[in-house]
Amino acid sequence: MPHETPSRIDGVTLVSHPLVQHKVTRLRDRSAPTKLFKELVDEIAMLLAYEATASLALEPYPVETPLESHVGVTVRGKKLTVVPILRAGLGMVEGVLRLVPGARVGHIGLYRDHDTLEPVDYYFKVPGDAADRAFILLDPMLATGGSSAAAVTSLKKAGAEQITFMCIVAAPEGIQRLREAHPDVHIICAAIDRELNSHGYIVPGLGDAGDRLFGTR
Ligand code: PRP
Ligand code: URA
Repeated sequence: MPHETPSRIDGVTLVSHPLVQHKVTRLRDRSAPTKLFKELVDEIAMLLAYEATASLALEPYPVETPLESHVGVTVRGKKLTVVPILRAGLGMVEGVLRLVPGARVGHIGLYRDHDTLEPVDYYFKVPGDAADRAFILLDPMLATGGSSAAAVTSLKKAGAEQITFMCIVAAPEGIQRLREAHPDVHIICAAIDRELNSHGYIVPGLGDAGDRLFGTR
């Protein structure tokens, strides 16, 4: 019997689309080989990106159809920027770009210290005009929330004001930490799991996302 997933949490969108849920279950399967794992992360990222971009602002855009003039709409402002948290967030980039091919790509390098579970940062690069752009921060795993909270802090220091965090599996502990640190950041996820184990892994989870994506287990 699956545990009960909260259907509504303030600031969190759990994408319950059947295709997303089907793919997340395949992703959890320990027997999924690296190639399949990579493909599933990519496909889930594309489906989540549909939700993550649902509130982008639009402005009028005139076009000439073969029959008459028409005023449609276009996404307002500078190009959207997607920012993977290295390493595992890299696996989500191409899926998002398939929906938003013009998006810019920044990078944030962080790893979780094995003993303290606190993030250690090693790289940061985003477009200079951050205040004028909408950002989607990518990481398949929201565990303690340390990495995502630190990444959002870095983005805000660079001037970013509009940030959505997109992950595949979230732990309740991570959601709470990220929401407390950054209540303005909306979280889009495909699963909210039961808890963290004593090593800071999400259970049931899917294991170490970076290792499974890049075959470094
Ligand atoms: C994983 C994952 C997140 C982080 C989540 O990365 O991809 O970035 O852990 O954990 P947290 O919410 O407790 O911070 P990891 O530190 O293993 O680095 P890697 O992607 O380089 O393997
Ligand atoms: N990072 C992962 O890759 N998996 C977890 O379960 C927790 C952190």
